[in-house]
Amino acid sequence: MSEPTLSALATLFTLTGRAALVTGGARGIGAAITARFAEAGADVALLDSDGEAAQATAQAIATRTGRRVMAMVADVADLPSLRATIEAAATLYGRLDICVANAGIYPFAAALAVDEAIWDRTQDVTLKGAFFTSQAAARQMMTHGQGGRILMIGSTSSTRPSGNLAHYDAAKAGVRMLARSLALEWARYGITVNVIAPGEIDTPGTRANAVDIVQADGATLVDMHDPAFLARIPMGRLGTADDVARAAVFLVSDAASYITGATLSVDGGILLT
Ligand SMILES: NC(=O)c1ccc[n+]([C@@H]2O[C@H](COP(=O)([O-])OP(=O)(O)OC[C@H]3O[C@@H](n4cnc5c(N)ncnc54)[C@H](O)[C@@H]3O)[C@@H](O)[C@H]2O)c1
Repeated sequence: MSEPTLSALATLFTLTGRAALVTGGARGIGAAITARFAEAGADVALLDSDGEAAQATAQAIATRTGRRVMAMVADVADLPSLRATIEAAATLYGRLDICVANAGIYPFAAALAVDEAIWDRTQDVTLKGAFFTSQAAARQMMTHGQGGRILMIGSTSSTRPSGNLAHYDAAKAGVRMLARSLALEWARYGITVNVIAPGEIDTPGTRANAVDIVQADGATLVDMHDPAFLARIPMGRLGTADDVARAAVFLVSDAASYITGATLSVDGGILLT
């Protein structure tokens, strides 16, 4: 049997000619992923519920990279709007090769303080949103018939409870399993489905929540920037959104062609503790 021809390493990581969609792309991890995808050569639709922030982020990344980066406004928990927006993105670019289900919320609340509204909204955005984003994207990928890459942003919380986030930990555990189930169903269409599980990442979301952490559980949790908190992370620092984006480029690229159903931790070693 002859050896397969090897592609040059650089071509394995390029996203040139690909069309991507990133939910929650206006800020934080989603914005960093959008920026790296565009830098790698992809056109990117950035879907976010915050239209103004989405527009500003899309504009800045398009100017810097020269790629087509479009802001699209939708709430991932609003299915008609989510589906229409993903369809519009695929129509705009003529295809959809990559979809990142990143939008998620993590409202800190002790378990006894979680009411039905907090529970439902967390599941609707974080778990239901990830499922229906993936479903709508897979439909487009199957129509085009060239396979695709679906990436979900999970969390180390899916296996290691964060504290005061039972509702979120459960949703992220669902995301992890969802990816495995969809990976099994869609492998025959050439669609891979993987998860990145970030640890403690410095983003606008976590910065806004720092105060809540202290209020919710002052005895065991502190501000993420507190040296005592950082000392718990083996690598001694918070992750950046770009740490996550670099791993995302790998998992949606040809370099990851035979990886599906996997969860990749990007956590500075926190799961080792
Ligand atoms: N930051 C962390 O430490 C961390 C750790 C593990 C996992 N995560 C996960 O990474 C993802 C991004 O987190 P982040 O810290 O960058 O968040 P962030 O709050 O900084 O940014 C989230 C973005 O998503 C958008 N968004 C929120 N709800 C939406 C909805 N219903 N529909 C569409 N857009 C919506 C927001 O407008 C915002 O632009 C989330 O799924 C989060 O659970 C984050």
